[in-house]
Amino acid sequence: MVRLIADPEEMRRTVHEARQAGKTVGFVPTMGYFHRGHLSLMERARAENDLVVVSIFVNPTQFGPSEDFQEYPRDLERDLAMAEEVGVDLVFHPRVEDMYPQPYRTYVVVEGITETLCGAFRPGHFRGVATVVTKLFHIVPAHRAYFGAKDAQQALVIRKMVEDLNFDIEVVICPTVREKDGLAMSSRNVYLQGEERRAATALYASLCAARELLEKGERRSSVILEEMRRVLEREPLVRPEYVEIVDCIDLKPLERVEGEVLIALAARVGKARLIDNLMLRVDEGGIFLLP
Ligand code: PAF
Repeated sequence: MVRLIADPEEMRRTVHEARQAGKTVGFVPTMGYFHRGHLSLMERARAENDLVVVSIFVNPTQFGPSEDFQEYPRDLERDLAMAEEVGVDLVFHPRVEDMYPQPYRTYVVVEGITETLCGAFRPGHFRGVATVVTKLFHIVPAHRAYFGAKDAQQALVIRKMVEDLNFDIEVVICPTVREKDGLAMSSRNVYLQGEERRAATALYASLCAARELLEKGERRSSVILEEMRRVLEREPLVRPEYVEIVDCIDLKPLERVEGEVLIALAARVGKARLIDNLMLRVDEGGIFLLP
């Protein structure tokens, strides 16, 4: 049976005791409303650790004032049943007031890689993510933490934060899980209405177009980006925010697609803000999908 814990102190004590008993601990931080992407992280954690902990917490500090914190989909009962199904041991579901005792004053800021891509459109978002993940890592002192590659910038920001702040935790980035038609799984896909759902496949189609050009030998970012934008423009319901090709370390735009690269895009489709990406290694040997 999956055990539900709301109290941060009880959670920390429980994980601490498991570690004392020699167990390895895998942790999957989430905002709930599970889909197969979340389940794939839990399954990976299950395969690699003795104890699997999942947190479900819709974190207010990573939402901007005009974003969807209130409407963000929530269904704890369903989530618990799904977690149970894949063999999760503990679910941490804290209250906002226990995570952010008022007045709350301490934040974690990762500089230089949080102002671009999604950070440019969601000011303060990564400050909220870095802060809550720091708190969660203290409350759930795991050996490994699992994040989805769909939120590539988030995963790279957390990996850098873990390095810079000497967290004793391994960050494992797991492949994006997609619907049959290519749409990346996201809790926000529930916002898509009618025609928007079909139109949303343009994001993945645009990434596939980029990959096809790369496979043909094209390395100029400008040419690839132009083709990606063209694919997006075919769908009037898709309103792109950004389409970029950057390196995976500094997230700086690349003129040529070489080394470890992130091809990332964000777009509004109806009420939903969707993101998707490809993380690739491009070298003389060919094109390899990361992670
Ligand atoms: O990816 C998410 O669901 C959230 O950003 C995270 C990492 C759980 C932090 O709130």
